[in-house]
Formats: sequence, structure tokens, C-alpha cells
Amino acid sequence: MLIAQITDTHVQLPGGLLDRNYDTAGHLERAVHHLNALTPQPAVVLLTGDTVDAGAPDEYGRLREILSPLQAPLYVIPGNHDDREALRHAFGDAGYLPPTGFLQYTVEDWPLRLIALDTLIPGEHGGRLCDTRLQWLAATLAQARERPTVIFMHHPPFRTGLTVMDDMGFDGAQDLALLVKANPQVRQIICGHIHRPIVSSFGGTVISVCPSTAQQAALDLRPAPHLAVVMEPAAVALLWWDAAADAVVYHLSQIAERPAHVLFDGTQWLMDNPLPPGFHSPGR
Ligand SMILES: [Fe+2]
Ligand SMILES: [Fe+2]
Repeated sequence: MLIAQITDTHVQLPGGLLDRNYDTAGHLERAVHHLNALTPQPAVVLLTGDTVDAGAPDEYGRLREILSPLQAPLYVIPGNHDDREALRHAFGDAGYLPPTGFLQYTVEDWPLRLIALDTLIPGEHGGRLCDTRLQWLAATLAQARERPTVIFMHHPPFRTGLTVMDDMGFDGAQDLALLVKANPQVRQIICGHIHRPIVSSFGGTVISVCPSTAQQAALDLRPAPHLAVVMEPAAVALLWWDAAADAVVYHLSQIAERPAHVLFDGTQWLMDNPLPPGFHSPGR
């Protein structure tokens, strides 16, 4: 089983600031093309929040249009740039979103159980898991303690070292860590929000942050708050479930056309294979 994650697509209406500066819509088109070209295909694609930039219904219309060629089933959760009700309305026809309340749900069709969390605080940039959301998670985890599980949520509940992003805050991180520790079936938690690739440990499991499909945050671990955008390679995260090893293996697949120099074609080694057109070794 293969799970794909994309995040922080920040789609705007044509001519908006992010649309002009970072071409978020064009980047998402390339991400959809990249996902559709994967072999094998992912069982699901998880879009982990900041799906649009201002939470406006028209933005969701453009988002859905760009996502419509996607072949694998799509599951969406909100980020701080989303509007809970507008997102529910935009994706309600797929049937997995609850009709009221927080946008938390499970996907039960696959060997890995998937649990979606809603960390949105309307009008704020930080994240929160309040008692209601944590109690739902506790009850949901208790339903299937024997099933290997992946949790997906927008805000990372740990400090990343990027001061400006960390200062947005996360309420409920300690309670979440205790809950995860008491449920070792959680094999990994995957997040977005930071616009960088990050991996850490949390509550006795692995936690990761996927880069945005468009603009990235420059790596800056100085304690003084400073934030810059850099167009480092966009990527999708791929979680490959190795059932025999009981392990989630985490890959980042960069969204970039790069010619490949084949070294083994399935039958023989081809070390003398000529480089394909456009292939450049570092330093050349
Ligand atoms: Fe974002
Ligand atoms: Fe965010």
C-alpha cells in the first residue's frame, strides 16, 4: 500500500498575490500530473491543509478544478488558511466529511488505518486540539488498537526550530503526545504548515512535515524571528507500507522533470549507458 501526501497548495483566484508571485495553481497542476504518473499508483492522496489561501468559495472552485484529473481518491483536511464550512461544502459530495462539527474522520478501507484531525482555530494561524477533538481521537484509537494507523493533521504539534512558524503555537500538544504514547498502533503522524521537509519523534512515534507543492520556507534556525520564502523543489510525500516489516517507509518525491540515467534495466547492469539528453552531473 502506498499513501501520497500533498500539502499547503494555497490556491488563489487568478491574479492574487500568491498566484502571481508563486504560481500556486500552476504548481498544483504539476503535482497532480506527478501523482498521476506514479507507478504504482497511491491508494489515496491526502491533502493536509492550507488548500486555498483565503478560505473563499471561489478559491475552492478553482482548487477542485485543478484536482479533478487526479486518479487516486482524495482526502482533505483544513489548515489555518482554510474555512471549515467552505471546505466542507466544496468537498462534501465525496461523502467522507462529517456533516457538522470538526472535520475529523477515518479511512478504513486499507491495511493502514488513516485518521484525519482538524487543528483549525478560525481566524488564527496556530493550531489546536481541544478536549472535544482529543476525546474523539481517544475513542477512535480505542476502536482498533490492533490496526496499524497513520494520523494526518495540518499543524505540527512540536517545535521545528523555525521561530516564526513555531511562535504560531499549538494548543493540546502534550495531551496529544500522551494519547499517541498510549496507542502504539500509531506508526506515523504526517503534517503540513511549515512548507519544509522535517522529521522528528513525537509521543513514541515518527512525525513528519511534507514540503508545500509550491513555495517553501527558507531553513533558518536562528532564534531571532525571521521568515523568507525560497523556491526549493516542491515534493509529494510517499508512505510505503511494508506489512512484513510492520513499518511505514517514508519517501519524498520531488516534483521535477529530471532525465534518469538507467543503471539496471531488470536483467543487466548498464554502467556504460550513455547519459540521456539534459542530464548533468553536479559540478559540470
Ligand atoms: Fe501553508
Ligand atoms: Fe498553515
